[in-house]
Amino acid sequence: MRDLLIVGIGGATRPGSSSETALRIALAGAEALGARTQIFAGQSLLLPLFAPERPERSGEALALIASLRRADGVIISSPGYHGSISGLIKNALDYTEDMRNDPQPYFDGRAVGCIACAAGWQATGSTLAALRSIVHALRGWPTPFGVSLNSSEAAFDQGVCVNPDLKAQLALVGAQVVAFAESRRALQVVADKPSGDDYVGLRANWLHSAEA
Ligand SMILES: Cc1cc2nc3c(=O)[nH]c(=O)nc-3n(C[C@H](O)[C@H](O)[C@H](O)COP(=O)(O)O)c2cc1C
Repeated sequence: MRDLLIVGIGGATRPGSSSETALRIALAGAEALGARTQIFAGQSLLLPLFAPERPERSGEALALIASLRRADGVIISSPGYHGSISGLIKNALDYTEDMRNDPQPYFDGRAVGCIACAAGWQATGSTLAALRSIVHALRGWPTPFGVSLNSSEAAFDQGVCVNPDLKAQLALVGAQVVAFAESRRALQVVADKPSGDDYVGLRANWLHSAEA
């Protein structure tokens, strides 16, 4: 069976941003369960403003979409800017319009872990809600657990998470994305050759784990 690939999108242009650091820790949670990961963060997200009428694509945009097409799951981490996700992250997500006519369009069939970082709890909440709405619009499955990170409280020291609860929460997001991808793949194997009770049981398990 092919390895699982989890793709991370997030951060800000500033090196060492809290949203990028959080994303790396969530991806490490996915790697701990055996998944491969790829990250698009910071400067690599400085893509031209997405314009539907312009077909030309930068190398970075092509790399992002090629990776998302192979992805079994996605994790997105955005700073909260004025109550919502940043323009940098939204612009990158707008490039998924290139996947509109794919056999698996946008984030269809993929779990998407969501992380919101802001300087106060109110903006973490509104940013996380906005991110989940966008994932729904892209036909993805937001993970049951999402992370709200208040950067006015000490969270990281030189890339290391100093808050054990936060570290566990970020790892959980990575784990939920992997668990969904594994369940979906197992269901697909059975769906390809359904055999009565096995199929019904596995489908029930899959639905249960998607709701947990
Ligand atoms: C343009 C801009 C808008 C922001 N708007 C808000 C906001 O509305 N509420 C808030 O709590 N923090 C706001 N912040 C603060 C960031 O959300 C906060 O510093 C966050 O941790 C930045 O994440 P980063 O370290 O990944 O850059 C804003 C920051 C910028 C640069």
